[in-house]
Amino acid sequence: MAQRPYVIDMMISAKQIAARVEELSQDIQDEFSDTEKLVVVGLLRGSFVFIADVVRELDLPVEVDFLEASSYGDGTESSREVRILKDLRGEIAGRDVLVVEDIVDTGFTLKHVVGLLKARSPRKLKTIALLDKPSRREVDISADWTGFEIPDEFVVGYGIDFAQRDRNLPHIGKVRFLDEG
Ligand code: IMP
Ligand code: MG
Repeated sequence: MAQRPYVIDMMISAKQIAARVEELSQDIQDEFSDTEKLVVVGLLRGSFVFIADVVRELDLPVEVDFLEASSYGDGTESSREVRILKDLRGEIAGRDVLVVEDIVDTGFTLKHVVGLLKARSPRKLKTIALLDKPSRREVDISADWTGFEIPDEFVVGYGIDFAQRDRNLPHIGKVRFLDEG
């Protein structure tokens, strides 16, 4: 399928993101100050930049693990069916866990992943999402911490892709298609 032509308009600068990551990391550190070791779980692939920035702000013993769930194909609409493409390497029973997500959109992905991981009996499980699109929510879930609430726009950058492109942008931008008004 040919790529529709688009441009990317600035939405959240790298500087704004860095300032917010610092605030959020302080909250996470306060919440988990008594942890033996925090398992920080990044949801691949969109959270890879965010998780890298968050863990470097945490003055706590941490372990990093990844889980890949897929609800989007290569388009801009959720398929509403969540598949686990890659599970965690480690056990989380009795442990402190922080799930790091890029965007909560319809909510299907985060709800599915939280259900899956809670069934493994962690001691404490919290969630953080860089972005939240509350107007798009279809299931009742929200992250414990959110970086920025955004309107119903398709965004890219800072790890987030459009059909695997634009993950390497240092800021968050919104996709504007040139073939619509
Ligand atoms: P949900 O299951 O509908 O909440 O979708 C969550 C996932 O869809 C996120 O982890 C993203 O990977 C992807 N997603 C949602 N909105 C966007 C967007 O604006 N740009 C790129 N990916 C998105
Ligand atoms: Mg994702």
